[in-house]
Amino acid sequence: MKDILEPISAATKEFRAHVLAGLAGTPKKISSRYFYDAAGDKLFQRIMASEDYYVTRAEDEILRDQTDAVLAALFNGHQRFSLFELGAGDGAKTKHVLRRALEQGRDPVYHPIDISRHVLDQLGQALKKELPTLRYQAEQGEYFEAIERGFSDPSEAKAVLFLGSNIGNLDRARAIDLLKGVARYLGPNDRFLVGFDRKKDPATILRAYNDSEGHTREFNLNLLHRINRELGADFNVEQFIHTPVYDPSSGRALSYLVSTCDQDVHIPGAEAPVHFNAWEALHTEISQKYDNAMIEDLATHSGLRITAQFTDGKGYFTDVVFARTDPER
Ligand SMILES: C[S@@+](CC[C@H](N)C(=O)[O-])C[C@H]1O[C@@H](n2cnc3c(N)ncnc32)[C@H](O)[C@@H]1O
Repeated sequence: MKDILEPISAATKEFRAHVLAGLAGTPKKISSRYFYDAAGDKLFQRIMASEDYYVTRAEDEILRDQTDAVLAALFNGHQRFSLFELGAGDGAKTKHVLRRALEQGRDPVYHPIDISRHVLDQLGQALKKELPTLRYQAEQGEYFEAIERGFSDPSEAKAVLFLGSNIGNLDRARAIDLLKGVARYLGPNDRFLVGFDRKKDPATILRAYNDSEGHTREFNLNLLHRINRELGADFNVEQFIHTPVYDPSSGRALSYLVSTCDQDVHIPGAEAPVHFNAWEALHTEISQKYDNAMIEDLATHSGLRITAQFTDGKGYFTDVVFARTDPER
């Protein structure tokens, strides 16, 4: 185990505080944003490439096949603009839009914001190679904190992207907080594109969170490995099972790590060992699925109106473009 007196970074302190609070609660939970360390980023790439994870393919199809229409909806009259992206990840889908914007001579400035320094470094290297003329300014940080700090000048011509159904990782209240937070920065001609994963055959959804190659399992269990690595804990990872469930009524896919036995986990800095009863669940992720009424409900409560929507051929995923309802205020 790590020596508790070892100096630790602010990020590690924040991670430890979150883990200790989440494991002290009932039910136990840890936010999915901690999935993304270097190992988690690599595992997520494998998930995105897997046959069972339809989410990335569906949104990639939209942004690849409907690029001009998406761009026209985003530019909305601006000749030049900044493109902000919350939780950009590897930016693979965004590159379709950026490439076309450059071809149209629009000279956009791309501002990816992501909690993972590692993924931003990789994105920067890929863009330098693939889109060498692109102007690029990354920001590492948590997106709520970035919004709070002020990620943009409200008078700047801009579009904001929130792809990959990242919004589905937030419950309704937090999703509204995020949409409202971004809406504050939108001028009358600015647009905000959000990717929503739609309700569909429950078996298809469940497979995406429990793929046959086991990448989602590894991805969830990596959270326990990360706690061991970074906080010096002693989770016996073999004694937890990855257990995703989907409730077609609420549209919520939930992921759990279930303890297979009575066990104690020691985390330096915790007042006492963390006890897991046999079959007790640790909640790790929510992935909300939406229908039209749910998307409209979010818009109404966030001061946004829908200006355009783009859906893939199978009807699995929709990229919705929003504007502020009250741009004059
Ligand atoms: C599910 S991946 C999706 C990536 C990309 N948007 C896409 O569609 O492929 C989520 C990304 O958001 C980042 N992320 C997750 N939670 C975050 C948070 N609270 N603040 C900032 N970034 C976050 C992760 O590091 C990861 O790169």
